[in-house]
Amino acid sequence: MSFRNISKEAMAGTVTLGVVLLVGYLFGKKKSSRMSISKSHCGGKDDPLMQYVLNNSLREHPVLKKLRLRTMDHCWNIMMVACEQSQLMANLAKLIKTKKALEIGVYTGYNTLSIALTLPDDGVLVACDISEEYTNIGKPFWAEAGVEDKIDLRIQPALKTLDDLLSDGQAETFDFVFIDADKVNYDNYYEKSLQLLRKGGIIAVDNVLWGGKVLNPAPGDEDTVAIDKLNKKLHRDARVNLSMLTVGDGLTLAIKL
Ligand SMILES: C[S@@+](CC[C@H](N)C(=O)[O-])C[C@H]1O[C@@H](n2cnc3c(N)ncnc32)[C@H](O)[C@@H]1O
Ligand SMILES: *[C@@H]1O[C@H](CO)[C@@H](O)[C@H](O)[C@H]1NC(C)=O
Ligand SMILES: *[C@@H]1O[C@H](CO)[C@@H](O)[C@H](O)[C@H]1NC(C)=O
Repeated sequence: MSFRNISKEAMAGTVTLGVVLLVGYLFGKKKSSRMSISKSHCGGKDDPLMQYVLNNSLREHPVLKKLRLRTMDHCWNIMMVACEQSQLMANLAKLIKTKKALEIGVYTGYNTLSIALTLPDDGVLVACDISEEYTNIGKPFWAEAGVEDKIDLRIQPALKTLDDLLSDGQAETFDFVFIDADKVNYDNYYEKSLQLLRKGGIIAVDNVLWGGKVLNPAPGDEDTVAIDKLNKKLHRDARVNLSMLTVGDGLTLAIKL
């Protein structure tokens, strides 16, 4: 918003054009570097506007907050979902009365817990990860929040879990899916999730902007290429309605028609 205002002023006064463009350039740089960190993790330290958003909207369950602080001590904490994004997804899941959810990529289970907290007593979240080391960090917090029985954690490659669910006759039964694991498999996760999803269900795909790298995918950069390819495919995909949000590191919502 302020970037646009700055550009307008630049049009008005040619004398200040150079200065303003420089400011615009720096601002743009700052913006894109925020993009690449991108995960607020409920702090928004260097960004007053993000701080304002968090200060005035976040309603974090006390155990969720504890798990976030525990996760911040972990070396891979950059992988954790942004708090405001997790809250959005929990709100959406609740809105469509989610009983069965699927999470592909759990890490320490912040979002797992956030979604599980919105589920009804007979709800279930199938959580996929290959790392017991990461998921073991979250487990005590799931128990503390009293939702461990709703979380069906499966430690094996997520593709195997999705195939298991499909061959178990669970196609068209899931309400909400969050895709947030290895990027090269994103399209496979999307296709299998779409089969598992009911009509009107939502697939949320994380990291669709990948720190801005999707603007210029280097041919050898398999992760960026995979994300960009899926983004372009989704735009044309008549099986879903679509929104691409700039929350977190970019979040696409695909609603099954
Ligand atoms: C970005 S993190 C997930 C963050 C998590 N959704 C959150 O809310 O904080 C990605 C996770 O995917 C897991 N992962 C990587 N490859 C996988 C695979 N083939 N199958 C299942 N999980 C995988 C990693 O172990 C890691 O925990
Ligand atoms: C957000 O809240 C923190 C803690 O109360 C405060 O220090 C900070 O000034 C607030 N920032 C904004 C932009 O509201
Ligand atoms: C999908 O989008 C179309 C066109 O915008 C709209 O008419 C339709 O109601 C939407 N369907 C769902 C399930 O949101």
